[in-house]
Amino acid sequence: MRLAIVIGTRPELIKMAPVMRELKRARSPFYFIHSNQHYSAALDSDILENLALPPVDFHLKVGSGPHGAQTGKIMAAVEGVLAEIKPDWVIVHGDTNTTLGAALCAVKMHIKVAHVEAGLRSFDYSMPEEINRMLTDRISDLLFTPSSVGKKNLIREGIAAGRIHITGNTVVDALHQHIGISRDKSKVLSRLKVAEGSYIMATAHRPENVDNPGTLKRTISLLSRLSRISGRIVIFPIHPRTKSNLAKFQLIVNPEFIRLISPLDYLDTLKLIESSCLVVTDSGGLQEEAYLLKRPLITIRSSTERPETLSANFIVGLDAGKAVSAYQQYMSGYGKWKNTLGDGKAAEKIVAALVKNRGKK
Ligand code: UD1
Repeated sequence: MRLAIVIGTRPELIKMAPVMRELKRARSPFYFIHSNQHYSAALDSDILENLALPPVDFHLKVGSGPHGAQTGKIMAAVEGVLAEIKPDWVIVHGDTNTTLGAALCAVKMHIKVAHVEAGLRSFDYSMPEEINRMLTDRISDLLFTPSSVGKKNLIREGIAAGRIHITGNTVVDALHQHIGISRDKSKVLSRLKVAEGSYIMATAHRPENVDNPGTLKRTISLLSRLSRISGRIVIFPIHPRTKSNLAKFQLIVNPEFIRLISPLDYLDTLKLIESSCLVVTDSGGLQEEAYLLKRPLITIRSSTERPETLSANFIVGLDAGKAVSAYQQYMSGYGKWKNTLGDGKAAEKIVAALVKNRGKK
């Protein structure tokens, strides 16, 4: 069985690391293809190093760009590599332009596609990720979904049940494999000179929150309001997209309330989440990590494709009043953290299913 894994962004690296490790353990070799949709060290090489991933076999050097151009470049570049290495399966993860570009290219070359983290739905069709994940699911031969919620979504869309495997989310595997190292090794708290529980951790990079001056201003003012009300500083590792938009829109962030820092590597990210008093985010992966680490969580989006987290995840959009009320509810003891995202054995189940389906047409 010839396998090729195609990834392109930070979350794909993190969540596919356990699958790569498991393939290695099962002595199933694979080609490792990186579109380089993410290329900045903090989003790429730092993470590769943290996770001790195998060397990348093919760097496609696609870089940034508008959706059509970026997805097109990914397809053209992936096509060249697949023609050369002729895999039986292409494995993709999640919902990025790399995911869709690679899957679409593979299916047109009659190469089977396995989709890890299939079946997530926000039902918000204005999100590029929702389109990417729906289309990728539609053309995949094997779909690995975190929970029964994802399976129901897929069945409703007409995907044959036999193709769907409930595996849990590989984010749990990654966290189990790294949290001990993060606790032992991360010096992020002393480097930032913050004490455990003394700060709010925030991230924002979604186009709907940061690509327009009005909404980016609302994002910043929601965070400032949470800081004022809680008396705690917001530590904000800033995504390159958000950083460049702050400069473009000439928005000033008050350092009394919000401290902007460079994006962190994976181990420091886990540490910063675990030691925070509250996480505020628009990221999918961070919602999962905060929930798994049992931190109070506020999602600054109007929907989530992770309903498994809703027993400790308030979806507030950019409504600062709702965010404040969520914070107050947490302070009065709200929140239940259940084990709904997986048992840490997703990669094992994924590799077993791949091996079982090896020769199927
Ligand atoms: C992408 C994914 C998103 C995922 C996110 C994780 C899509 C449609 N979006 O969003 O699902 O949650 O990754 O971070 O695939 N930039 C850099 N350095 C980099 C990468 C990007 O400076 O290494 C800047 C560029 O200005 C670029 C912008 O960030 O234009 C956006 O990058 P892009 O990869 O298009 O989208 P993300 O917002 O990172």
